[in-house]
Amino acid sequence: MSQVFDVVIIGSGLAGMSCALSLDSKYKIALISKGQLISGSSDQAQGGISAVMDDEDNFDNHVRDTFVAGAELGELEAIKYIITHAPNSIEWLMAQGVRFNTENGELHLTREGGHSHRRVVHVDDFTGHAVQTVLAQRVRERANIQVFENSIAVDLITDKHKRLIEQKSKDARCYGVYVQNRATHQIDSIQARFSVLATGGAGKVYKVTTNPDSNSGDGIAMAWRAGCRVVNMEFMQFHPTCLYHPHAKSFLISEALRGEGGILRLPSKDGQAGHRFMFDHDERGELAPRDIVARAIDFEMKKNGIDCVYLDMTHLPEAFLREHFPNIYAKCAELGIDMARQPIPVAPGAHYTCGGVATDLAGRTDIQNLYAIGEVSYTGLHGANRLASNSLLECVVMGQSVAQNITQVAAKNFKYEAPELLEWDASRVIPADEAVMITHSWDALRQAMWNYVGIVRSNKRLEWAGKRVRLLKEEVNAYYTQYQITPDLIELRNLITCAELIINSARFRHESRGLHYSLDYKRELPKALPTIMTPKN
Ligand code: FAD
Ligand code: SIN
Repeated sequence: MSQVFDVVIIGSGLAGMSCALSLDSKYKIALISKGQLISGSSDQAQGGISAVMDDEDNFDNHVRDTFVAGAELGELEAIKYIITHAPNSIEWLMAQGVRFNTENGELHLTREGGHSHRRVVHVDDFTGHAVQTVLAQRVRERANIQVFENSIAVDLITDKHKRLIEQKSKDARCYGVYVQNRATHQIDSIQARFSVLATGGAGKVYKVTTNPDSNSGDGIAMAWRAGCRVVNMEFMQFHPTCLYHPHAKSFLISEALRGEGGILRLPSKDGQAGHRFMFDHDERGELAPRDIVARAIDFEMKKNGIDCVYLDMTHLPEAFLREHFPNIYAKCAELGIDMARQPIPVAPGAHYTCGGVATDLAGRTDIQNLYAIGEVSYTGLHGANRLASNSLLECVVMGQSVAQNITQVAAKNFKYEAPELLEWDASRVIPADEAVMITHSWDALRQAMWNYVGIVRSNKRLEWAGKRVRLLKEEVNAYYTQYQITPDLIELRNLITCAELIINSARFRHESRGLHYSLDYKRELPKALPTIMTPKN
């Protein structure tokens, strides 16, 4: 079965919803999520959205902080574009109905690592959920947006799926996407003149991560298979402070806690407060950029043979903690940790994919009519390390840029006839009866990436990881071509593609920069260059 839309947006996080709501209601839009409408990392985001909203601050400061945090690998044109559009994005969100925290009638701005000023707009410590709830309501009100939940995109439809070979266009084009219904496993095509990838990052490629299960790098893998360049995949950001507790799956302890005075300590000895170690590593202490803090924690954990360090908030009043961090306070309390009296056990986890599908500042990829926005994309904003709270910002600014570009292109030539496309080949109906192969490969992949391609890397470790991933790829590809595909298998295959891209990009970089630290190349090279991977097909 095939349905035709003007625009198909794959992913309903902040990037996808911002784009959908910024398009005129005359367009027929399909908004697809493999989970619920409110989903993805966007729903989990805590700290907030960075923007210059205060007379004491200015765009140059925000640009400089972003460029410095990114170890000078960010692209200044992209940084300036996104940062100068930030205040408008905050106003747009407020116009949609988001109620950010205020103090004395002004927006309350919090602070995070790497920021020279307070500039993080937030809703308590659950900014993402608050924003997503409002935008989901606006989406549901729009008759032109059809929401497909529990629908997983399998692959993009490109020229190779066109029935009429003679109509093949010179440049590669995208015509929509094949989508599997998670309940029935039926695969249908959703055709559209414009397709937008907004599928988020690939954090699930690592065993320990702050990311929700949906972050299996599907968009990056689909774009790569379709022929798009993928940039800077070696720069996986590890958040320094995930809650370390056996019953806390992927729970983040926001950087805003350090922004408000949180202290990182080693475990206490003889009842004394543990050593405050961050100043042994960087003069900015707990507010150094994330790559430095995560590496320092990793170093201290390995040196001292410990599984976690501690974030100490006990010097701050209980009422302040309850008021500013209600979500984190409640989660800690649920697990028996009273953060007003006990330091919080924390350890680093994979958090953000700085690299992704190459786009320009209109969100266009290498394939005609295919756009990418949000964490799936590489715009040049983050360089070798993302500045805290710049990601949600990028989602809104770039979601709006794509909407603008689609509007301009469609205005020039509104007439569009959907080509005749090949239906998904459903001949593979042999049920996948060896689920153990999928769960085993999934665990083996994530463990290998954690052990060998983590915070500290070396040539040997990358080689070991490469060998394991090649083997897994062979097995999974054989399975994929023989049996009926399932959502787990789709995600595993995509994770393997992302793992390969990360390992190969890391092997190309013969220096240490930002989030990529190699024991074999400890120095930073004088010239900062991106790692651009081009598919062979
Ligand atoms: P996501 O929000 O991840 O959404 C992806 C969407 O794509 C989901 O709807 C998912 O269902 C869908 N999808 C994925 N694959 C498929 C497929 N194959 N088929 C169909 N649908 C698919 N950044 C900040 O700037 N500030 C913060 O405070 C902050 N806090 C964070 C806290 C946590 C715990 C985490 C994990 C991240 C945080 N980040 C923060 C990062 C930020 O939240 C994300 O980078 C951002 O939300 C990504 O938005 P997105 O729309 O690109 O993707
Ligand atoms: C956090 O709240 O620490 C996360 C912020 C971010 O990832 O930008």
